[in-house]
Amino acid sequence: MRHESEREWSSGEVEVLARAVVRAPSVHNSQPWSLALPGLRAELSERADVALPHQDPGGADRLVSCGAALANLVLAVRVLGWRADVAMPEGEPPLVAFVAAAEREPPSDHELHAYAAISRRRSHRRSFSPVPVAPTTLSRIIDPLLEGVLCHVVGPEYTETVGELLETAARVIKGDAGLQAELAAWTSAWRTDGVGDGLVTPGYDKAGLPWAGLVRETTVIPDVGTLASRLAQETLLIFCAEDSRAGRVSAGVAMQRAWLAAVDEGLAASVLSQPLHVAAVRARLAAALSLAVPPQMIMRLGYPDGSVRRTARRPAGDLLRRPDRGLSP
Ligand SMILES: Cc1cc2nc3c(=O)[nH]c(=O)nc-3n(C[C@H](O)[C@H](O)[C@H](O)COP(=O)(O)O)c2cc1C
Repeated sequence: MRHESEREWSSGEVEVLARAVVRAPSVHNSQPWSLALPGLRAELSERADVALPHQDPGGADRLVSCGAALANLVLAVRVLGWRADVAMPEGEPPLVAFVAAAEREPPSDHELHAYAAISRRRSHRRSFSPVPVAPTTLSRIIDPLLEGVLCHVVGPEYTETVGELLETAARVIKGDAGLQAELAAWTSAWRTDGVGDGLVTPGYDKAGLPWAGLVRETTVIPDVGTLASRLAQETLLIFCAEDSRAGRVSAGVAMQRAWLAAVDEGLAASVLSQPLHVAAVRARLAAALSLAVPPQMIMRLGYPDGSVRRTARRPAGDLLRRPDRGLSP
């Protein structure tokens, strides 16, 4: 019999780990990660070949996406009954983090609930029902956050300002031909490879809420008053972290943990990074809300007013990488 320290992941465990990573949210559903599973470790790397030069020239969203995948990976290791020791080595790109299954430790009730929310979470870009999110519910969702990540709850006195900034961002994004071409290529309903999320669906376009999702050439941008009054019915969170590799990965982990906690509470959410890529909008948002740390992601939160369909993914096997061989075919 093999000693526990010489063990490798069983094929069942590999499935659980891979499927948890695959279901994470990612910018344009690009799934910019790969996973290697040597011994009883799980190594998550970013895929630099999955690039969005217009939307995400510096790869910030790619790192936030990898952070979300890392949050799922840790939960999967925990529900398999292992203590998860996470390390985020600086300066070893494309490696984002590795998780060592150190020794046996049963998952907590909280972790089981969060894990169960992985397959139920999806981007809810629609409007929400008018029921407000109670402060106690909100504090369960955003506490405790990770070290180095701040979650700013946008107060009602700022909805007008945020509305103005989102309107400005929407106009810039709508008029940027390069951005629009990239968006169309990545999120076309016609893609059949599990990449992109087929956002061009009647449900999405009819919503016509530019702050709720991605601004397209066809998006009708409402006036600031309408925008602000609609924003006032939502809970808006802003995840802030340093503009560093570790900061962005941590922001992604925190965002995903909050998202899963929200789903477990019966809430729905969608996230936005698009407006934060307009430099002037990002700077003005940070100044207006007195954010001490740079904003990385915006999250809209509320009680869902209907269901949203599940988006496709590449097959789980596509993300598995043997350390010596690159991505598996
Ligand atoms: C870093 C990051 C940035 C994102 N930016 C946006 C955005 O600006 N607008 C939007 O509608 N969705 C955005 N999303 C959501 C993705 O489009 C979504 O997660 C993906 O299409 C998969 O769909 P799902 O969340 O329903 O599983 C972002 C997600 C991540 C992780």
